[in-house]
Amino acid sequence: MVDESEPKNSLRRNEGYADLRELIERFESMGEIEHVDGADWNLEVAAIAETVAAKAPGRAPALIFDNIKGYPKGFRIMAGGANGLKRLAVVMDLPEPETEMELVSAMRQRMRKDFQPISPIEVNSGPVMENIDRGDDIDMWKFPVPFVHELDGGRYIGTDDLVIMRDPDSGWVNCGTYRTMVHDKNTVAVWMSPGKHGRLIAEKYKKRGEDCPVLISCGQDPLLFITAHQEIDPEVDELAYAGGQRGRAIDYIPSEVHKLPVPADSELVIEGTMKMDEMREEGPFGEFMGYYASNASELPVVNVERVYYRNEPILTLAVPSRPPENFTFARATVKSALIWDEMEKAGIPGVKGVWCHEAGAGRLFNVVAIEQLYPGHASQAAMVATNCHAGNYAGRWVVVVDQDIDPSNIFDVIWAMSTRCDPPEDVQFIKRAWSTPLDPLLREPPWQNNRGIIDACRPYGWKDEFPKVAESSPELKKQIQKKWPYLYK
Ligand SMILES: Cc1cc2nc3c(=O)[nH]c(=O)nc-3n(C[C@H](O)[C@H](O)[C@H](O)COP(=O)(O)O)c2cc1C
Repeated sequence: MVDESEPKNSLRRNEGYADLRELIERFESMGEIEHVDGADWNLEVAAIAETVAAKAPGRAPALIFDNIKGYPKGFRIMAGGANGLKRLAVVMDLPEPETEMELVSAMRQRMRKDFQPISPIEVNSGPVMENIDRGDDIDMWKFPVPFVHELDGGRYIGTDDLVIMRDPDSGWVNCGTYRTMVHDKNTVAVWMSPGKHGRLIAEKYKKRGEDCPVLISCGQDPLLFITAHQEIDPEVDELAYAGGQRGRAIDYIPSEVHKLPVPADSELVIEGTMKMDEMREEGPFGEFMGYYASNASELPVVNVERVYYRNEPILTLAVPSRPPENFTFARATVKSALIWDEMEKAGIPGVKGVWCHEAGAGRLFNVVAIEQLYPGHASQAAMVATNCHAGNYAGRWVVVVDQDIDPSNIFDVIWAMSTRCDPPEDVQFIKRAWSTPLDPLLREPPWQNNRGIIDACRPYGWKDEFPKVAESSPELKKQIQKKWPYLYK
């Protein structure tokens, strides 16, 4: 754990990087990149990204695909950008950690002491403006848009993306990661789950009888992707949030048509208008819980009016699939820190760790470790972890364990559940929670699901008399390791 008395700003590694390309150079020097030459956008790119990430969750390299079949050299795809312990620390501007929990603690400490959003700054130009396609020049097939899984309904340019929209009432700008399918050379579709901020904004335009302006960034700094795919509170500008995380404002250029903020260092940004009354079929798409839970559906068409892109643009790719996925390590780590932060803000004392397991896609199986301080504490902690904004959408299980259990160690967690949890007493249910058509247990709207919360702590009433753990003491373990080091290499 990180020393909680650290002074302000001390946690920054202060190396910084200008954009995705400089970040890639940094990752290269760390030995964190593998190159793939000659793969096909049709299934091969995604299959490689999926299987390499799954081989070593949290430790697999990022991948850069070049010479993609049928596309010019230089039109690259990057997969799994920040989905590794060392790379995520660089992106979050935190010291290199040894373990997941160390990184979570460092993030949480920043949230607690050192975090202020920094508003994005308008600039006149930037690398993303190197090329601007308008009118007949627009052709989404110019780019190596991946076809991800065999049963998908189309090619998806937006997976590791940010969809940028402005609330028509308040002017608040939201960024969310929502999948974007290419219909044809100048139309795309964006799928947004009920209740997601982008969908609420689009519904407001529809209610006013207006179409919805939109930007879709399809290649960018992984920090922007992380910020866009986490549940950040409504009315918070994610570009400002990302600026706060890296300690420096994000530059943007107002877009030509709708004056939405184009991140100046993005690799490729689509500008368009979502025609709220013009529908076309989107999907199906293999999704993050590991299933094709929903069928194709009718979605508003987005007419593409501009494509802004760097020379030889790098698209970024996330592959939703059966977990572990090539983004779930980063999601699990950041979400764990956010839930911990929200629990603390809700007044829950004694939280010692939070981990959102990748087997639950970083959402569906979350574990909280606490030092039990009063009767009902474990139950309260579980309820808040389940219902806070960062932890609520599309969850299923929350397990609360004592502080001697590392929440990221599934072996320890199962041991606690097996030995400290009396199922009829210690398992509770929450009904009608916020879920999504992507949940394989749901067949029709409303998209609500049920949750289980498991108290796997020693029973509060007699925790001090609970049988002692049968294991050698830490001092004894240290002594024997010193004496016979070769046994413990
Ligand atoms: C790779 C990836 C793809 C995602 N695709 C979608 C999607 O297609 N639709 C959706 O509603 N949420 C999707 N999400 C989840 C949202 O990005 C997430 O819930 C986020 O909080 C949305 O932003 P918002 O809170 O501003 O609505 C995706 C997340 C990831 C990591």
